Amino acid sequence: MTLALAHSRARTGVLAPAVRVEVYLAPGLPALNIVGLPEAAVRESRDRVRAAIHCAQFEFPNRRITVNLAPADLPKHGGRFDLPIAIGILAANGVVDVQSLARVELLGELSLTGELRPIDAVLPAALAATHAGHALIVPAGNGDEAALACAGEIFVARTLLEVVAHLNGEKTLPRAVRNFDSILPALYADLADVRGQLQARRALEVAAAGAHHLIFIGPPGCGKTLLASRLPGLLPEADEAEALECAVLASVSGQGFDVSRWRVRPFRSPHHTASAIALVGGGTGPRPGEVSLAHHGVLFLDELAEWGRHALEVLRQPLESGIVTISRAAGTCEFPARFQLVAAMNPCPCGWAGDPSGRCRCTMEVVLRYRARLSGPLLDRIDLQVNVPRLAPHEMRGDAPRGESTLAVRARVLAARERQHARCGKSNSFMRQDETEQFCRLRDRDQAMLERAMAALQLSARATQRILRVARTIADLEGSDGIGTTHLTEAIGYRQLDRDELRPAA
Ligand SMILES: Nc1ncnc2c1ncn2[C@@H]1O[C@H](COP(=O)(O)OP(=O)(O)OP(=O)(O)O)[C@@H](O)[C@H]1O
Ligand SMILES: [Mg+2]
Repeated sequence: MTLALAHSRARTGVLAPAVRVEVYLAPGLPALNIVGLPEAAVRESRDRVRAAIHCAQFEFPNRRITVNLAPADLPKHGGRFDLPIAIGILAANGVVDVQSLARVELLGELSLTGELRPIDAVLPAALAATHAGHALIVPAGNGDEAALACAGEIFVARTLLEVVAHLNGEKTLPRAVRNFDSILPALYADLADVRGQLQARRALEVAAAGAHHLIFIGPPGCGKTLLASRLPGLLPEADEAEALECAVLASVSGQGFDVSRWRVRPFRSPHHTASAIALVGGGTGPRPGEVSLAHHGVLFLDELAEWGRHALEVLRQPLESGIVTISRAAGTCEFPARFQLVAAMNPCPCGWAGDPSGRCRCTMEVVLRYRARLSGPLLDRIDLQVNVPRLAPHEMRGDAPRGESTLAVRARVLAARERQHARCGKSNSFMRQDETEQFCRLRDRDQAMLERAMAALQLSARATQRILRVARTIADLEGSDGIGTTHLTEAIGYRQLDRDELRPAA
């Protein structure tokens, strides 16, 4: 046999398109040519494959070897094709049974000694192979991740020799198995640690219950970062489908997926020096950014006013659509990015604007310029805008009454989420306009109040829709079928930054 065909998978966005590795041995001067591989990283695989085959004590064919990776127009990066190339060469040389390759896909980087090294983006490949009805062989280091695609026949191997023995039917490889538990909410920092701040705690509960976007504004050291860090503990676990989407995104991000975080919603808190590309994704062979890594979870932007304007403006598209579209010369790809935004900021550069002590020394112009760093369109998308004032001295006393714990609040959040899912299959914040109209009906009296608020606070149509969704969540927390006046009033009260009295007077 001088011709062999092995199957593998590339990575583009969150997909894993099939790649055929064709190997042809021709008479002529000994050489190894790999075609269909534009990148230097893959050209290096020639040397690794040659060394690995030698080290595994197999004969390297002394002929003119042509390896073709098809289709040619797919971006193919990384050492993931080392294993299919090596197996293809061995099959063409008669060492591996060619028939055994028909329904098997291979992925893995080889070391010079023939050991298999883990690669990135294994999970999408495992899902695609399962879907195609193929078995898949991956490096042992990727076993946990591949096992998440539970239905398939997935084998893990440590060396090239083991793979050859498996394909020749001499010794079957072990299967990848799922063996892990997710973290319990009890392991999160407890909400009871936060003293006082009743209004902010309430807003956090509403945000958790309906997946609403939230911003905390207040002086330094009053508990904004503390409060935001308590949010993950309040959220329900992701379901299997959501968890799989999160795992796929982490898998293709190049950072790998930590299986101990299976079904734990992601909480991403990038630093304010992060670039726009780090936030939304990009680069060559585009990789997902922070907004996609926060998919089905929380994106926490601390010190929001310190963020670059450009970095914040790129959030507008994903905040609205839940998708990021990245267009590059090489092609376009989409990453899901349905996240909950939580932000914190000071009200002015010194941090004390609005404090009753009057210690803020910032001029009106400085305060206005500081707030203008957040554009109107971005603020318009944040449902809950909450002041977090300085604590009264007695609230920090050791014997001061404690607030409710994470577990108590979480129970209410879970109940409210259940009502939402029973009603419309999603969290309130993700309701479309027609769903909002259908499920957030107001009584005439309340409708008139909302219209007065729209006029007085100059609310946009979007802000009004968002107020309705928040009011729905507040009603759900109370277990109420209809939206009442108190629910609506509270929801309107959360548009702090839209309120005239909170804007510094001109
Ligand atoms: N409400 C609170 N209850 C208990 N401890 C608090 C509270 N607020 C602040 N602290 C203490 O102060 C520390 C700093 O709080 P935190 O980081 O939340 O401040 P911040 O509001 O984010 O300030 P900055 O605007 O400077 O970022 C906390 O680690 C905690 O020890
Ligand atoms: Mg802080």
